[in-house]
Amino acid sequence: MNNTKREHFGSHLGVLLAMAGGAIGLGNMWRFPYLVGKNGGAAFIAVYLLFVVFLCLPILISEYALGRRTQKNAFGAFKALSKNKSWSIIGVFAVSAAICILSFYCVVGGWSVKYLVESFSFNMSALDSSYFNGFISSSWSPVLYTFVFLAMTGGILVLGIQKGVERFSKVMMMLLCFLIILIAIRSITLPGATEGIKYLFVPDWSELDGKAVLEALGQSFFSLSIGCGTVLTYGSYVKKDENIISSSLLVSVFDTTFALIAGLAIIPAVFAIAYMNGVTPEIGAGPGLVFITLPSVFNEMPMGNIIAVLFFATLLIAAITSAISLMETFVTYEIEEWKVSRAKAVVIAFAICSLLGVFCSLSQGVLSGVKLFGLNIFDFFDKLSANVLMTGGGFLLVLFVGWSMKKEDYIDELSNGHTNNVPQWLLTSIYYIVKFVAPITILIVTIANFIL
Ligand code: PHE
Repeated sequence: MNNTKREHFGSHLGVLLAMAGGAIGLGNMWRFPYLVGKNGGAAFIAVYLLFVVFLCLPILISEYALGRRTQKNAFGAFKALSKNKSWSIIGVFAVSAAICILSFYCVVGGWSVKYLVESFSFNMSALDSSYFNGFISSSWSPVLYTFVFLAMTGGILVLGIQKGVERFSKVMMMLLCFLIILIAIRSITLPGATEGIKYLFVPDWSELDGKAVLEALGQSFFSLSIGCGTVLTYGSYVKKDENIISSSLLVSVFDTTFALIAGLAIIPAVFAIAYMNGVTPEIGAGPGLVFITLPSVFNEMPMGNIIAVLFFATLLIAAITSAISLMETFVTYEIEEWKVSRAKAVVIAFAICSLLGVFCSLSQGVLSGVKLFGLNIFDFFDKLSANVLMTGGGFLLVLFVGWSMKKEDYIDELSNGHTNNVPQWLLTSIYYIVKFVAPITILIVTIANFIL
């Protein structure tokens, strides 16, 4: 494929919002709050933040740089940069990880569509746990909503990078920020919310164990979308004058702030309503936190019905902007490696993810007896993606950058050919973190988890 014909993002803001849109998603609004609840609150958040700053940010920068340098898809990039063809395995890993993630992500995306539709009935009391469990374990309805979600994602991607991804992300991300702040303000101003705020920000270290540290690592990779080729793919559509370091920094700040605000929108509200009813807050509800616990909170909250509509709209927007980054990773790969048109590539991606999505969805019901390593298909894909494929992909990626790529080439890309005034000490520190600290940390946390 001739690189001069390749599309690019149209503006700095467009790049930033598309990347932030890829990062901010169900990971921030659904996965982060329930993992915080399951793993003891502030201590988990503290470890998570350490991983974001010292590990994920340098990896994000590197993945972005690989895409921008090669202007190729996740597979083609490694092929182009290395004479040793075995490195292309990272590309295979990355593209498979993206498909794997999208396969269970689209199911939760489908649940969000369903809950947005239901929230318009203004009857939150009907959305209790038996309703949720009945819905996700039925055969047809969640599968149909999964298809709807994937069709919306594919519909945006057919339009291309500037007219589809960039335009959609720009409008939606602004709306998203506005909505989540509004909901967080409502949550923290409820009587009794202070306990929830304390839970989020005052650490109790005794709650932290090895599992929680591995989950914090997995979640930091998942939330920043690193290790599965999506950042590389978006990076490949970025022009050469973009400052990789500052835009990566902004994306991580946005993503982390958004996760914390989403935590504030959810956890204090759960505490406040439990306090009102004199019961213990059910923040350890796991994946059902957003779909079971929250509707009951909305039900009792002043203006709760309206907040519910806004919340599920926010959840859906966040999910779609991330899903498009996942599908685009596969689509760009197909266009460049299989030489198919964008429309055809989207149809193929839609078909494959729908098929896998059906299995993930049915594993909540008729296929719940099918277990892989003791987990149902949905949980298997979820855990496999965050705790194995993404961290594994990230590990291989840092090995590649640190040990196969030339240091000068890497630094040249980060500094736009030494023109963007990023200090040399910073560039060198990032390089050495990527070369030594990152692979060793990932190895230690993963091995420790097997031993402990
Ligand atoms: N970061 C996204 C989220 O937080 C999920 C995602 C993972 C998107 C990997 C793209 C790649 O929801």
